[in-house]
Amino acid sequence: MRAIVYHQYGGPEVLVQEEIPMPTPKAHEMLVRVHASTVNAGTLVMRSGQHPDSKLFSFIIKLIAGWPKPRKKVLGYEFSGEVVAIGTKISKFKVGDAVYGTTTGLRQGAYADFVCVPERWKLGVVAHKPAAWSFEMAAALPVGAMTAVHLLEKAGLSAGQSVLVYGAGGSVGSAAVQLGKAAGAQVTAVCSLEKEALVKEWGASAHFDYKTVSVAEMGGQYDLIFDAVGKVSAKSLKSLLQPNGKFTSIRQITSEKAEYLQKLQLLVAAGQFEPHIDRVYPLEEAVTAHAYAETGRKAGNVVLKLF
Ligand SMILES: NC(=O)c1ccc[n+]([C@@H]2O[C@H](COP(=O)([O-])OP(=O)(O)OC[C@H]3O[C@@H](n4cnc5c(N)ncnc54)[C@H](OP(=O)(O)O)[C@@H]3O)[C@@H](O)[C@H]2O)c1
Repeated sequence: MRAIVYHQYGGPEVLVQEEIPMPTPKAHEMLVRVHASTVNAGTLVMRSGQHPDSKLFSFIIKLIAGWPKPRKKVLGYEFSGEVVAIGTKISKFKVGDAVYGTTTGLRQGAYADFVCVPERWKLGVVAHKPAAWSFEMAAALPVGAMTAVHLLEKAGLSAGQSVLVYGAGGSVGSAAVQLGKAAGAQVTAVCSLEKEALVKEWGASAHFDYKTVSVAEMGGQYDLIFDAVGKVSAKSLKSLLQPNGKFTSIRQITSEKAEYLQKLQLLVAAGQFEPHIDRVYPLEEAVTAHAYAETGRKAGNVVLKLF
């Protein structure tokens, strides 16, 4: 089968297309024909073997992912596709089902024609794709949106409160703005000027351009600051918080849960959330897609289409 693989850490050019053996599903797994995957922040970090902010994290990443070369050759942490075979212990899915989810912790990612996914496992999630969703949308939804759900729920954001989303333009940030608005909060988005119209479309009532507006000028006493891209510290924004206000950040460890996907499906059905897709590239253009995402300027999500 076709796959985009990498045999060494490095820039987008380390990604190469190769033929690799088809995976065979074990009893507790199903074989999914992948329709779409994404280029998210996690894939960039694992491909480069570099954490953008920390040499220590870069060292830890390579300890976990393989030293001096990556152990798992196929990236792609989000996927959508169709079940084409099931193991004997699969009970909730059948051949022909359209599904979406993550490959977190699995032996192979979704930059390949087929991937084996268990019905249930500790680190990742899989669910039935609602018929109204495109495969591109389903692939773009899981990681950014589940991260936003996790952090907002932990922070206890509620109706009538105010939240400042710092770094509102990316995958997590675009979800945090929409989910904050859906929770009944007043959302202020911090991102570049180019994305002002987008963040307002997603539900922000105010916008600040971090390139031209200082923290002091962002005014307001927020109930919650949501750091969506890890470019700020709690200390640097403390003056913007209410005395008992909270700070939450994507630097925290989050988890993927089936209940988060259920909640997101309801919000999509209610018209209160939709993962924003910036660009869609064919699988063959994975190098270009990674180079674009690596500019750090993408709006929402970048999708790789396989089928
Ligand atoms: N904790 C977890 O489990 C978890 C899960 C997912 C992601 N993450 C982490 O969360 C971070 C964001 O992930 P993501 O997928 O949302 O990233 P992303 O989509 O790649 O973020 C790109 C966005 O960052 C914005 N940006 C870049 N520099 C900025 C700055 N100095 N200030 C404000 N905004 C800036 C850009 O918008 P502008 O045009 O406005 O600059 C762009 O829209 C990554 O570090 C990722 O590793 C953590």
